[in-house]
Amino acid sequence: MRHLLTLENMPRAEITRLLDRAEAFRARGEQRALLAGRTVLNLFFENSTRTRTSFEIAARRLGADVINFDLSRSSTAKGESLLDTLHTLEAMKLDALIVRHNENRMPDWLAEHANSMVSVINAGDGSRAHPTQGLLDALTIRQRRGDFENLAIVICGDIRHSRVARSDVHAFTALGAHDIRLCAPRALLPEDANEFSGCAITEDFDAALESADVVIMLRIQKERMAAALLPADSDYFAQYGLDLRRLALAKPDAQVLHPGPLNRGVEIAGEVADGSQSRILDQVANGVPVRMAVMAELLTPSSP
Ligand code: NCD
Repeated sequence: MRHLLTLENMPRAEITRLLDRAEAFRARGEQRALLAGRTVLNLFFENSTRTRTSFEIAARRLGADVINFDLSRSSTAKGESLLDTLHTLEAMKLDALIVRHNENRMPDWLAEHANSMVSVINAGDGSRAHPTQGLLDALTIRQRRGDFENLAIVICGDIRHSRVARSDVHAFTALGAHDIRLCAPRALLPEDANEFSGCAITEDFDAALESADVVIMLRIQKERMAAALLPADSDYFAQYGLDLRRLALAKPDAQVLHPGPLNRGVEIAGEVADGSQSRILDQVANGVPVRMAVMAELLTPSSP
């Protein structure tokens, strides 16, 4: 593996190996000799709090030098200028480019045009993929539940625009899940249901929650839709918000996940986000060893 662009079609063995490696890093903490002398560049064309920080901490714990290139306010355009940016960065002998972009497949485009040995890691492209989030969500679920085969997993919220939902479904399906329920109001359901073949799709959140083992809540991605699609916050919470009453419809020990950023009172009640079934901070914590595992895998190909 040279790049990590998507989890689509990634074999179960490969995902399991990354999760096992992440568990080993979680137990062991730092391993600063592993990427000593290597340079990793964070190239974020979209805002990010946890993903960028988590990549930075992960790279440092492996001993790499990290450079943060904040492009969110610049007007870097696609085409020639991005190619120039890429080659300029490559000339500085980078080992990995961690890319977040609002256009689908931009990390793939960079990987195709990279002419050195640089590895491209997708930190979220448009609505298409967020592979490290898919991996950390899988790890968070696996820590308490082990096997995915018998799990009922609900993903509720802005499925249409969610790269997290897509990468989660790819990871969970590869790991053997076959009861994945996607729930949203019609305007936020996927335009092409074939993209999520194998998942149940519903607008009825209460019904979807019945006997669920895992409930993943998603933010409404206002930045990816026309204002006309947007429901009012209070109407949305009434129908699709996860509060304690609704959570009681799931299994008593159901786990609640959310990739963040949270909008309390819109898709999730504070009492649930802060409650005993919430795994939200475990997800954040798991982000670091998962990203350590990915970087170790891509940048030290000969290591076991
Ligand atoms: C998500 C993202 O950016 O795709 N957040 C994250 O990376 N933790 C989800 C979101 O922005 O709603």
